[in-house]
Amino acid sequence: MAQPSFKNVFVFLDTDKFCSPFDMLVVTDAFPDSNIFKFENVTGDDAGKIVYDTLFPRGPLGAAHTKIFINGSNFEMVEQVVAATQKSMASAPWGTSIIVDPRGAYSTAAGAVAKSLGLSLEKGFGVLEGKNVTVLAGTGPVGQTAARIYATEKASVVITSRTLAKGQAVADKINKEVGAQRVKVVEVSKPEQTAAAVKDAEIILSAGAGGIQLLSTADLKAAKKCKIVADINAIKPVGVEGLDSNDDGKELGKGVFGIGALAIGKLKIKVETNMIKKATEAPAGLFDYAMAYDAAKADILKKIAKAKAAAPPKEMPKHWMP
Ligand SMILES: NC(=O)c1ccc[n+]([C@@H]2O[C@H](COP(=O)([O-])OP(=O)(O)OC[C@H]3O[C@@H](n4cnc5c(N)ncnc54)[C@H](OP(=O)(O)O)[C@@H]3O)[C@@H](O)[C@H]2O)c1
Repeated sequence: MAQPSFKNVFVFLDTDKFCSPFDMLVVTDAFPDSNIFKFENVTGDDAGKIVYDTLFPRGPLGAAHTKIFINGSNFEMVEQVVAATQKSMASAPWGTSIIVDPRGAYSTAAGAVAKSLGLSLEKGFGVLEGKNVTVLAGTGPVGQTAARIYATEKASVVITSRTLAKGQAVADKINKEVGAQRVKVVEVSKPEQTAAAVKDAEIILSAGAGGIQLLSTADLKAAKKCKIVADINAIKPVGVEGLDSNDDGKELGKGVFGIGALAIGKLKIKVETNMIKKATEAPAGLFDYAMAYDAAKADILKKIAKAKAAAPPKEMPKHWMP
């Protein structure tokens, strides 16, 4: 009997009341003839049942062409759905890969951190370890993932929030995960409080909600140690005054270089596509923020190495000549 040929199927489990078209479009562009099933308002209680009904009908060969994509803006609920999905797969005879990119936060944060690392290396400021980083509005899905990645890279991170307790909960979770006190919170409920949050920052990432400016030109000028400023909000007004969404390494002030949201967005889409393709090739595995950052960082380091190799050799100093 001929082997059945299976189409790729992506099963979206979204914890929100509507499933974002964003990620379904990225999947469609990567695999134009795939099928997408979407489930909304998914909780940890029902995720397991959906996963069983996804795995069994097509057997192990079909399951290899069936990928779970977990989405949603509530991180706690997303974590419950991930845990329930993994538990179901562990008890089933076969499993499949799980892509986790809640509201695009993992691929966006991975892209933002990798872009800041790339610019830091390009300008000779070095790696992220030991750098002072401030993530403005570091409590949202993108901001807290970026803070988590910077902390994993051993940077000293300040996150801001309008509510100290909300920021502290995020900081505590990351510090527990990395096993060190790398993330601190500064409350910024009024614009006048921003200067204190960025005063020691060498890298600033503005991670606020769309259409909210978080950093003024005056506050950036007062941040005397700042070398890199990045923003992920492309909706006007953008997060950083004077930074254009398309800026990609532009010098904004003396020795301060900027990365805008659309420059980060390009890498974000590349990373998300990479997560989807890798998950499709792999029989099983979790493709989450760590994998997203590995892919983003590899992309940036490859580009730097290529630029270095293409650069003309430095002229030999004359006194070395015979
Ligand atoms: N460039 C890309 O490729 C890309 C991809 C995905 C998302 N995004 C963008 O990334 C940004 C962050 O996304 P997200 O989902 O993490 O954002 P979010 O949850 O909507 O907001 C992030 C944080 O912004 C703060 N905030 C909300 N309203 C505010 C206000 N009026 N004033 C000051 N702070 C405020 C909140 O922090 P506190 O309550 O703690 O103060 C919130 O936790 C958005 O601008 C989104 O459009 C970009």
